[in-house]
Amino acid sequence: MFEQLDPPAEDPILSLTVAYRDDPRDDKLDLGIGVYRNAAGATPVMAAVREAALRIAEEQDSKSYVGLAGNEVFNQALTSLLLSGTPTLDRAATIQTPGASGALRMLGELIAYARPGARVWISRPSYVNHQPVMEACGLEVREYPYFDPHSKRVDEAAMLAQVAELGPEDVLLLHGCCHNPTGADISWESWQAIADMAERQGFLPFVDLAYQGFGDGLEGDARGLRHLAERLPELLIATSCSKNFGLYRERTGAAIVIGESLAHAQRAKGHMQRIARATYTMPPDHGAAIVARVLNDDSLTQQWRDELDGMQQRIVRLRQQLVTAFREASDSDRFDYFASHRGMFSVTGLSNEQIARLRQDHGVYVVGGGRVNVAGLSESRIDKLVEAFLAVGA
Ligand code: LMR
Repeated sequence: MFEQLDPPAEDPILSLTVAYRDDPRDDKLDLGIGVYRNAAGATPVMAAVREAALRIAEEQDSKSYVGLAGNEVFNQALTSLLLSGTPTLDRAATIQTPGASGALRMLGELIAYARPGARVWISRPSYVNHQPVMEACGLEVREYPYFDPHSKRVDEAAMLAQVAELGPEDVLLLHGCCHNPTGADISWESWQAIADMAERQGFLPFVDLAYQGFGDGLEGDARGLRHLAERLPELLIATSCSKNFGLYRERTGAAIVIGESLAHAQRAKGHMQRIARATYTMPPDHGAAIVARVLNDDSLTQQWRDELDGMQQRIVRLRQQLVTAFREASDSDRFDYFASHRGMFSVTGLSNEQIARLRQDHGVYVVGGGRVNVAGLSESRIDKLVEAFLAVGA
């Protein structure tokens, strides 16, 4: 059966992690997959998460099944975290999913079931898994213009011109904050313009919010999403606790459907549960149980918020330090874009050849397309990164 199989395409991010692991050089530098590292280069378990996990270990009295929608306390807490302050909570329904990729898949399958023939529009470039997941759901994927490689900002005029063409058969996949891979986010004015157009033209916005808290704080990062939620009858949301709770390997995320009424949203939730049953049945519990504990205990919530703010502020500082180091070493301001980007990533505009040389000659790993995980850098490695970039002619 298998001898005629073609070689499978490698995932551009996960294959890099393997190559990095196998690189014997001591001074190698991993700026590939999106994980946060502290000044010592480690990705520690957050203190609030550890405390919640200890309490669960002591108090949990059963490992029996939870249910197709996962942990409902988690679902409610996470939905509130995203949509707090909006009246939309009354018409939102949520299922817990294995990470945000699991949420993308459940929501993609829901779209394919509810609206066969729908087109999903993703940014050019977008998160490497957006296209594969949507296509695996049988959906047609198209791209809207997004990143201007010269200014390293969003080309909002080009993006909005494309969005102005969308209609009821279209789904617009947006990054809620901290755009992956570019680091360049749309302005508040563009969120408002998208809400106006969605209302008028009838397309369905679908927000992937995987980095809440890493850009402009928990509230600032949800501002655009909340605006859409308040203005529009329907909205899809994929979210993740991988980054803001540091729960990467626990695969903890959620798929949220906002409907015109709670009954509509719950019907959509029922279909996602049916689809989950035919896929993985139910999501793993541990990460969601931790998040539910943290978000339902005032002192753990405060501790978690403080830790998350600390990570966000450190990323901002790293970005500023990078700019200063690049200015000094290159005698130019052409790397200033690092400070205007938000969240973990920046797209640098490096060519494939420069990316290959960074890896071969300097042991510096960045994702194809030139994405750098700034949040994976430690202060002591900034000079190495700057030196390597300039050596390959960045
Ligand atoms: C990334 O883009 O590095 C992360 O979101 C990891 C992933 O799941 O691809």
